[in-house]
Amino acid sequence: MNIRVIDGPLQDVDVDALVVLGFEEQRPAVREDRIGDLYSSGEFSGKALEFAIIHRPNGYIARRLVLGGAGKPDKFNSDELRKLMGAAVRALKPKGARTIAIALDGDYCGIDFTSAAVEGAIIGDFEPDRYKTDPKKNEKQVDEFIVVGGSEFGANRGRILGESQNYTRTVANEPPNLLTPLVLADRARALALEQGLDCEVLDQDRMRQLGMGALLGVAQGSAEPPALIILRYKPADGSVSRDHLGLVGKGVTFDTGGISIKPADGMEKMKFDMCGGAAALGAMRAIAQLKPAIPVTALIPAVENMPGSRAQRPGDIVTALSGKTIEVLNTDAEGRLILADALTYAQRIGCTHLVDAATLTGSIVIALGGVNSGVFTNNAPFQDKVLSTAKAEGEKMWAMPMDEEYKEALKNPYADIQNIGGRPAGSITAAWFLKEFTGDLPWVHLDIAGTAWLDDAKPWMAKGPTGVCVRTFTQLALGW
Ligand code: BES
Ligand code: ZN
Ligand code: ZN
Repeated sequence: MNIRVIDGPLQDVDVDALVVLGFEEQRPAVREDRIGDLYSSGEFSGKALEFAIIHRPNGYIARRLVLGGAGKPDKFNSDELRKLMGAAVRALKPKGARTIAIALDGDYCGIDFTSAAVEGAIIGDFEPDRYKTDPKKNEKQVDEFIVVGGSEFGANRGRILGESQNYTRTVANEPPNLLTPLVLADRARALALEQGLDCEVLDQDRMRQLGMGALLGVAQGSAEPPALIILRYKPADGSVSRDHLGLVGKGVTFDTGGISIKPADGMEKMKFDMCGGAAALGAMRAIAQLKPAIPVTALIPAVENMPGSRAQRPGDIVTALSGKTIEVLNTDAEGRLILADALTYAQRIGCTHLVDAATLTGSIVIALGGVNSGVFTNNAPFQDKVLSTAKAEGEKMWAMPMDEEYKEALKNPYADIQNIGGRPAGSITAAWFLKEFTGDLPWVHLDIAGTAWLDDAKPWMAKGPTGVCVRTFTQLALGW
């Protein structure tokens, strides 16, 4: 999708569909009599995400004038605009619109609004149908999205963020037979080459030498070898950041549960267990282009959790890279095991601040559903920074408690710690497990098990992977 910003009278905008914002109880200042008719007849009320289409509007070159419901003016923000543009693309594309424009003005044409409009359009354009062979599936396409009266800088930022989020969704959507840990590593190498990032992949032998027993224990049940993927972004010479952000993403390319095997029903969804890793990749793609002043390193432990004959057993005791011993009581709590070694390694290579994203627990889905990602930390100010960034980016997140009492559940008679804490507060005990591997570094953990995947489409987004965290990660680095 080509992105363009133009100025000039709306009458002259040559597109298949020109969208104008229609608020509740506030008609747009656009000269077309039928807009008034739509409002006064009640056919269009301005409710959020409502649409009305006027064909061959009087005095306009555009083939259609589209009223896009923006809701109440006092509730309208860049997040609402992002969704509205996603919904517009998803509604107008099947109607054959190949060129779509949005008219922005007044309070709504700055960098943030323009960026959000473009993000929304690009995100709305994504379909997870790569493996459908129907030759007609691409007949309906949006070739161009135009922001009339927007910010050039904002549009560029929005394009990079939207495309990077879709990059994450593309990777996250790959089936697990085609996206093994080594294939994910190849994707990271290709991304690095294309974007001018540095890429290093630690293989199984190297991980053995280093002593990553927690990660290797998970990997050993699969015929597919693991990989620890490391992508590095360095700001141009001259920037003097003493900080170094580490983005750690869970990269389980398929989670059967291992010997503690999951039920067959719905297991296919566990291809999504690398959404945290895919988000780290997408963020690095955006970071490479938007060039923040802080060095950023992504670390993605990539494994397949399988119950092969060499698989680890409940009762196995493994030694993590940090030296801590772990009794593995449930092989399905594998994410925290691989993240433990990745978090330790992130400290070794000089990260000063850590944020991880992981589809870590079913328990966070029970607590927060698909609305908020769960946020956990060992450092409240750093968590506040992540939360305010997420809020500004329209990615909903909710801080969860980390009282010391929860840690009790991980006590083990034979080893330093055990990998599960029982059913109560499952996402908090999982976070406590991770915390034991963060040393003294400020760290924020994002449990995205409920937010990384849409089981049903939203008006502004197809079903499937959401690409959550790409915008927050990127903006966290940009705003450092
Ligand atoms: N990848 C899953 C988390 C998950 C489960 C996400 C269901 C979405 C839906 C993770 O590896 C896992 O299996 N966690 C277990 C932990 C338990 C064994 C302590 C869980 O949440 O059930
Ligand atoms: Zn699991
Ligand atoms: Zn998992």
